[in-house]
Amino acid sequence: MFYYRPVVEYAYADIISLRAHVTLGLMREIHRWGAHAMVIAIWLHMLRVFLTGSYKPPREFNWGVGVILLVLTLLLSFTGYLLPWDQLAIWAITVGSNMARAHPFVGHEGPGASLLAIGGVPLIHAGSDARFLLLGGTSVGPGALMRFYVLHCIFIPLVASVLIAVHFWRIRKDGGISGPL
Ligand code: HEM
Repeated sequence: MFYYRPVVEYAYADIISLRAHVTLGLMREIHRWGAHAMVIAIWLHMLRVFLTGSYKPPREFNWGVGVILLVLTLLLSFTGYLLPWDQLAIWAITVGSNMARAHPFVGHEGPGASLLAIGGVPLIHAGSDARFLLLGGTSVGPGALMRFYVLHCIFIPLVASVLIAVHFWRIRKDGGISGPL
């Protein structure tokens, strides 16, 4: 955060200088590989929990919290993916955000969106649908970069921290970690 500026003029150059010039710029690489390792670790954790039947009562609530944590982790990856602002990032988020455009009811090209109208005026259109909410515009631009930065660095980590605390509290409330079957 000291060296990266979430604006289209500097984002890519800042990532390059983090990689090549900044002392401890290696932290950015560690962060990127750490993110991959986190997704793999959560998947292995989920597999362990499933194989030991630890989703069964009284732990079904904690399984539910876990699923939300998994979605938040994938959203962390999705929002982080845009921040290098290179071709891979821009096109990956274009593809991803276009899915929101086709989402039922909340995407302006999705099934059912045209039903949401008052007096013939559509409520869901290109300037008010899920993609617009996600990107802060109708394409991946400066608005999206700032929005994804705030989601990635502040909003999602805050929500995930609260849910991880609930997850840990629940482990104790459910009688501690279940043993093997
Ligand atoms: C950020 C993500 C997550 C963190 C930090 C986390 C952390 C933990 C920890 C430390 C435990 C206790 C020890 C252990 O069983 O390994 C645990 C238990 C548990 N986790 Fe997670 N977890 C995460 C995601 C998930 C996911 C994705 C699921 C399932 C969809 C899940 C379901 C559970 C359940 C059911 C237990 C209780 C297991 C038992 O009592 O044996 N967790 N979690």
